[in-house]
Amino acid sequence: MSETFDVAVIGAGPGGYVAAIRCAQLGLNTICIDEWKNSKGKASLGGTCLNVGCIPSKALLESSENYYQIKHKLSAHGITTENVSVDVPVMIARKDKIVTTFTTGIASLFKKNKVKSMHGKGTLLKREASANIWQINVDDSGNTETIQAKHVIIATGSIPRSLSIAPIDNDRILDNAGALALTEVPKRLGVIGAGVIGLEMGSVWRRLGAEVTILEAMPGFLMAADEQIAKEAKSIFAKEAGLQINTGINIKSIKTSKNSVVVNYSDSSNQEQILEVDKLIIAIGRIPNTTGLGVKDNGLLLDERGFITVDQYCRTNLTNVYAVGDVVRGPMLAHKASEEGVAVAEMIMHLEKGQVSENEPVDFNIVPWVIYTAPEIAWVGKNEQELKAAGIAYKAGQFPFIANGRARAMGETSGFIKILADEKTDRVLGVHMIGPHVSELISEAVMAMKFSASSEDIACIVHAHPSLSEVFHEAALGVDKRALHI
Ligand code: FAD
Ligand code: NAI
Repeated sequence: MSETFDVAVIGAGPGGYVAAIRCAQLGLNTICIDEWKNSKGKASLGGTCLNVGCIPSKALLESSENYYQIKHKLSAHGITTENVSVDVPVMIARKDKIVTTFTTGIASLFKKNKVKSMHGKGTLLKREASANIWQINVDDSGNTETIQAKHVIIATGSIPRSLSIAPIDNDRILDNAGALALTEVPKRLGVIGAGVIGLEMGSVWRRLGAEVTILEAMPGFLMAADEQIAKEAKSIFAKEAGLQINTGINIKSIKTSKNSVVVNYSDSSNQEQILEVDKLIIAIGRIPNTTGLGVKDNGLLLDERGFITVDQYCRTNLTNVYAVGDVVRGPMLAHKASEEGVAVAEMIMHLEKGQVSENEPVDFNIVPWVIYTAPEIAWVGKNEQELKAAGIAYKAGQFPFIANGRARAMGETSGFIKILADEKTDRVLGVHMIGPHVSELISEAVMAMKFSASSEDIACIVHAHPSLSEVFHEAALGVDKRALHI
């Protein structure tokens, strides 16, 4: 009889690898099974996030922003540069190196924490109701092995939603992996979907010189964001970033020729339009990945959209089987996946010790969102339209970056921060930001909300001068109509 693990984790993205490390830290004998192979055909831990998501996209956003700054913004500082050029293969190689550093880093973390790592596709086998051990079949290119575990954490993530009329070939029609691996700047780039990937990838290639047109089906823009932020973002993206965003469109056909891709669509006025581009990115959302998991046989319950059904503690309908991250409901974000992984690991530890788990479920209301465009967009909690729909009375304080000394010194004055607080209790209900480095500034808002702060609490905190964080402070003062510098 082979070894029985306390925990088997299927999937080594930020949900799975973090869960595995936390389980091992808590003294649980843990194995993590992952099937990812990189473009060189090598096993690579870290899932979507590290291989073709968060990390590589931020590497290219950083490189392309540096190029854009040198080319278009440094002259305002009195710095002139000549013959600025970009070597895309070098930029891509830098990105690949960062990815390899992190993916191999996870292998080291597994080693350090004594997590057993296994490459292959994991299938959870059906078991008798009386059994107390789960069996997982692991298939690595035809070599199969069965492992046993008391608890199973499924963290199989998500895959891009496809558009049947535009199959991905990663030559002309690209998914996120293809959009991160172009070796030259396309002259004309089309993007289907003005969501997070569309905006981030569109920004990368726009900054490097591509003409970028984004086609979005919804009549509005960034509908998950606060309406005022979305409006500001659309205007800045059009005027400053040069992204052409057409909303309310309907794709009719997409045809690929040797040299281009032609998209036929009707615009928001129902007029027929043609977009001809050199490359087309499809970024119309992601779907949960349960292929090969054996759901038809093992009885794992999925919801109508294909996500694994879980309760607030990430427990599935099968005893001692949990699911976390993109494969379950909630925001598809790496930090949400990791947080759920940690919570499940701690629950299993309590169960193994015969204790009652006192862990709180992950609170999605205080999971921050960040879109790494220029300017960046970030938010946490409720937005104005959500508060209005829920009939919650609130007051708002807002402060623009243009009135902030540090933002002026940096030459990054677009955007603002808005704090929404309960009309009666003053408790912060939501914070919405668009501006420089708001991906970092949002953490203070998350902390404030985690500790149930009021806007007055924030107003009482000393913020360093001159710093971008003063914009958050002034927005808090603004809730009580006492902002000082406007
Ligand atoms: P994944 O990261 O998808 O990992 C799942 C793993 O399970 C994969 O390695 C997969 O191969 C493996 N697997 C699947 N089925 C099996 C099986 N049967 N057996 C074995 N292994 C299996 N989020 C952010 O928070 N910030 C960002 O900046 C950000 N940027 C992004 C940029 C892009 C371009 C994309 C595409 C996504 C981005 N995301 C970002 C989202 C983020 O990548 C996901 O939310 C996150 O990766 C989800 O983690 P996960 O562990 O649930 O799944
Ligand atoms: P998304 O859900 O953010 O955006 C998809 C967009 O495509 C939507 O606006 C949708 O209305 C539009 N769309 C759908 N079908 C369409 C069609 N047929 N024609 C035109 N438009 C259509 O999904 P996206 O950008 O693919 O990203 C997937 C997820 O990955 C994100 O929701 C997010 O959870 C995660 N992500 C997070 C990042 C971050 O945190 N910075 C960065 C990138 C991705």
